[in-house]
Amino acid sequence: MVSWPRRIAIVSRSVRLAPALVVLALTACGGGPGTSGAPGVGDPYFPKAGNGGYDVGHYALDLAYDPAAHRLTGTATITARATQDLSAFDLDLLGLTVDAVTVQGETTRWSRGGQELTVRPPRALDGGDTFEVRVRYSGTPRTITDPDGSQEGWLRTDDGALALGEPTGSMAWFPGNHHPSDKATYTIEVTVPRGLRAVSNGELTGERTSRSGTTFSWRVTEPMAGYVATVAIGGYEIRRSTAGGVPVYTAVHPREENADELPEVMAWARDTFGPYPFSSTGVIIARAGDSEYALETQNRPVFPGTPDTGLLVHEIAHQWFGNSVTPESWKDMWLNEGFATYAEWLWQEDHGGDSAQRTFEALYASDDTDLWAFPPAEPAGAGHISDRPVYDRGAMVLHKIRQRVGDDAFHGLVRGWAAARRHGNASTGDFTRYVERRAPDEDFSGIWTDWLYGEGKPDRP
Ligand code: TRP
Ligand code: ZN
Repeated sequence: MVSWPRRIAIVSRSVRLAPALVVLALTACGGGPGTSGAPGVGDPYFPKAGNGGYDVGHYALDLAYDPAAHRLTGTATITARATQDLSAFDLDLLGLTVDAVTVQGETTRWSRGGQELTVRPPRALDGGDTFEVRVRYSGTPRTITDPDGSQEGWLRTDDGALALGEPTGSMAWFPGNHHPSDKATYTIEVTVPRGLRAVSNGELTGERTSRSGTTFSWRVTEPMAGYVATVAIGGYEIRRSTAGGVPVYTAVHPREENADELPEVMAWARDTFGPYPFSSTGVIIARAGDSEYALETQNRPVFPGTPDTGLLVHEIAHQWFGNSVTPESWKDMWLNEGFATYAEWLWQEDHGGDSAQRTFEALYASDDTDLWAFPPAEPAGAGHISDRPVYDRGAMVLHKIRQRVGDDAFHGLVRGWAAARRHGNASTGDFTRYVERRAPDEDFSGIWTDWLYGEGKPDRP
């Protein structure tokens, strides 16, 4: 590792404002030290989401929340690998107060601007280095209003809180590389006042009570995107069981009912999509009104009140499509929502309801302008990634593929996709290439141009 003159660090800082200076800065120091990691990964819809220059391997979050004071205290220890020489790098964190930052145990300089926490390690990191950055922080975490008007981040509830992260809410409660393309393992420890529980992703590895409260320790061993990380704090009732050999940990708000169909939905989903990608399952049933929507938080989705079967199927299907196979960017959201919606159609078809063909035809007959507003693979903007074309037209794309290849090949294709990209990321292009490779004798080009990328309602169903 090399240290470098402060002057260069200042030059590289202005890089953010003037891309032309990147070239200058790199030339001036031969592409070596004095290079800042980019403040975003280049997501077309959320340009500041995530950061360049490193890859996170593991987050160790140590949190304490006092619901009466609405105060969160946290230490985030992040283990990452530099993918380039780094004189500085960013983490995403919105709101809260940063109390201290260390890199490799050494106190380091940092600054903040918007959602970017810029860390300047005392010694430059070399590309390929593994490093540990630790951030101590505290304060009242924010609720964020999405570009589409929905609420995420840290939501207060009657007796606790609920953390939801899609698409950008996770930066409201821990610093990180908050973009779906950088998945990592986690340990999440949460201390809450005695009598309350803290439920999170993965498996509960410990629970201990001391004078300061009860600490719940969670461990996530499969890669997880930050937007499906969660913490639910409240007077939850816990139910433990197993479903097809997978441990179930379910938390139900005392005023709500459990989702009793979980074992049946899990069994059906495994038959339909292949092996379950995670080492535990369950649901978090918050109180109706605690959030405006359900979210497929990893291992155990969150529901505002007891879900109906369709919604349960949707969020469980996301464990395969979204959480295990994760979009490369927010543009690829239809790979999540099209599949989760199509899962609802398939469940209906398999349980005496409408066939997927019928559901498709009914949708095609609709002239609802919302449904045809934009192509599923090209949402009309950051405020539209959860709109109907992403869900319903996304599912229609999958049905078109099924019509083309036939039922058996389609089921093989869906299971194959989940297996091929298990615990990874994928873009729309990855998906279309996969389909074409699996069925080389078919021509999908019309489906892609009309259904996936085409504006407006396709001329023929
Ligand atoms: N992605 C969630 C699901 O399909 C729903 C969701 C999350 C949502 N954030 C949203 C819907 C914002 C509308 C607006 O289960
Ligand atoms: Zn969904």
